[in-house]
Amino acid sequence: MTKFDPAKSLSTRTSAVAEGAILAMTQKARDLKANGADVISLTIGEPDFDTPEAIRQAAANAMNDGQTHYVPVAGIAELREAIAAKLRDENGIPATAADVVLANGAKQAITNACFATLDSGDEVILPAPFWNAYQGIVEMAGGVPVVIPSTTSEGFKPPLKRIATAMNERTKLIFLNSPSNPSGAVWTQEELEGLARLVKSHPRCLVVSDEIYEYIWFDAPPVSMASLPGMYERTVTINGVSKGFAMTGWRVGYAAAPTAVAKAIAKVQGTFTAGGNAFAQHGALAAITGPRDEVEKMRASYKRRRDLAVALLKGIAGIEIAAPPATFYILADISGLLGKTAGNNRIETDAEFCNWLLEEFHVATVPGSAFGAPGCIRFSVATRDSDITRGMERLAQAANALA
Ligand SMILES: Cc1ncc(COP(=O)(O)O)c(C=O)c1O
Repeated sequence: MTKFDPAKSLSTRTSAVAEGAILAMTQKARDLKANGADVISLTIGEPDFDTPEAIRQAAANAMNDGQTHYVPVAGIAELREAIAAKLRDENGIPATAADVVLANGAKQAITNACFATLDSGDEVILPAPFWNAYQGIVEMAGGVPVVIPSTTSEGFKPPLKRIATAMNERTKLIFLNSPSNPSGAVWTQEELEGLARLVKSHPRCLVVSDEIYEYIWFDAPPVSMASLPGMYERTVTINGVSKGFAMTGWRVGYAAAPTAVAKAIAKVQGTFTAGGNAFAQHGALAAITGPRDEVEKMRASYKRRRDLAVALLKGIAGIEIAAPPATFYILADISGLLGKTAGNNRIETDAEFCNWLLEEFHVATVPGSAFGAPGCIRFSVATRDSDITRGMERLAQAANALA
């Protein structure tokens, strides 16, 4: 009898999706560290702060009070009310509690939105650079990602004309991530208005507006797409507590959408998961209804670290950057360093550069090609000042070693 190969039983849906480059780099850094190397990791996509005390206390109280049972599929009523009020007051989004559906993190909220709206073959516009998870989620939901590139000099935002050319009757969703991971780019009100006009000219098209970095901005606060006239009906707003409140491990995110879409999103949530975690939702309630002073402190700290990293990066020949107006990421254009050689190593691509930087200089970063930004690398500055300084020193040494 021939030997059974379990791999042959896998779905094409799963096999077709590529493993994340961020996870691959993080694992490689971990392996080097385990072998004793002094690795500086600038890959991490999460706040390095602990969740504020009052939020932790609220969740602990909820757990001790018996909030340990299943919750309604769309989330606990108080939290849905609080989120709707936050969206109205802070974002100018006319949401009601009925339009809010909780999920296990913003990532699952995005997944729910895709499964609720995409039929097989529907096209999804991904303005690049984009968070790499979008591609896999869209593909698993049966959609076809249509990547629209942009350049450093365009501020990492594709011009509307380029987006318009890619749209057709199969376009079902446009992803918008402002502020953006990986570039930190923020779409202005004017740019959003242009995009809104474009969306309105397509009968079935919705925007998925991922606003998870809304509190981490440095120049001007971001504008929500669903706050624009006529855009509430056309937008699924995605948000959560992970980044702004330093609550990544809590897994609380949400979608807010016009009622018909919200109902479909809740159907997906109920099919795959049932409701989210009861006491984590009580923690999120404390976060959303509580003061924003801890959020502000973290924001100030990210700004200081961004300034430190940008100042150091600007001194490195072959690297081109603009200070990102938001998030704790910096997307640096390293195309000036590609096509060069150090010893036996010829570095042609951003992925080769990242591998070489990690192996030879023990600095972990993520290749821009993972985000649809070839020729770039992404740093996270959600880490200690000393790691930022030492990481940039090593990067300068690497750049100098290439000839
Ligand atoms: C743009 C973007 N959206 C969503 C998420 C995921 O958020 P959550 O941890 O709430 O699932 C991330 C995490 O890196 C992200 O960068």
